[in-house]
Amino acid sequence: MTSRDFLSIRDVSAGELTALLDLAADIKAHPTRFSSALEGKALALIFEKPSLRTRVSFDVGIHQLGGFSVPLQPSEIQLGKRESVHDVARNLERMVQGIMIRAFSHKLVEDLARAASIPVINGLTDFSHPCQALADVFTIREIKGRLEGLKLCFVGDGNNVAHSLMFAAARTGMHMTIACPHGYEPDPTAMKLAHDDRISTDIRIEVNHDPRDAVRNADVVYTDVWASMGQEAEAEKRRSDFKDFQVDSTLMERAASEAIFMHCLPAHRGEEVTDEVIDSPQSVVFQQAENRLHVQKALLVELMK
Ligand code: CP
Ligand code: NVA
Repeated sequence: MTSRDFLSIRDVSAGELTALLDLAADIKAHPTRFSSALEGKALALIFEKPSLRTRVSFDVGIHQLGGFSVPLQPSEIQLGKRESVHDVARNLERMVQGIMIRAFSHKLVEDLARAASIPVINGLTDFSHPCQALADVFTIREIKGRLEGLKLCFVGDGNNVAHSLMFAAARTGMHMTIACPHGYEPDPTAMKLAHDDRISTDIRIEVNHDPRDAVRNADVVYTDVWASMGQEAEAEKRRSDFKDFQVDSTLMERAASEAIFMHCLPAHRGEEVTDEVIDSPQSVVFQQAENRLHVQKALLVELMK
């Protein structure tokens, strides 16, 4: 990888992304071959927001590669308050070999990466969630055997997860439709960047406000919570704004016959997805969650070796 950091799917070229997915497949198939790849290396973990999958997959992942994690409580280090982001970076780079951070502000993560000479990995910000998109395209490729030309329909909020999926679709040649209510479209800058990144102008990355139309013939139907972390105060309004955007069996029937259902998790069952869909044979959500571990191990090897 030419980039030292992983703040966005856009930090890797189409070729680098494929190589990363191939390495992840190798690691998943032969985990013991990589058990000392990062021997003795330390990865700092900073979470300003809750997490299950990201925390466990990075912690277990670095251990399985022969390294170890250093969890830092935001209340202890108080990034940008007790000490400037710059100074935190200049200290950590002398003691650990990488930083994984989940933060509200994307700019804070960019500032940290700019100041630190060691790799910084974005474990989710309000703008994007690139590690999730990496696991998502890995999972789709694992199941469908290819990515190029597939149709991915994201039903829900044009949020951080949608942004990273758009960037991943552009890089891998998937068509992507974001089915969202008016006022919940993806960030226009993200939309433009994804358009600019498309490996071919035949790739369609578009918004559709009618979920029934948007999912037609989709190979992948994807959804996420209606109110993301930090938007709890809007949850009630959003439940009403998104009420026609629930992924239920009727909606899934309009997708391609072999369509899979995906969700980054955590899911709010009964809101964005019904139990029937998330527990159906079409649902690959737990395979998707497991793959966070494998793709992030590939990422750690690439960035910290
Ligand atoms: N999908 C995901 O990032 O899960 P967590 O928020 O539990 O880490
Ligand atoms: N969009 C969700 C993703 C959680 C993994 C959030 O930001 O809360």
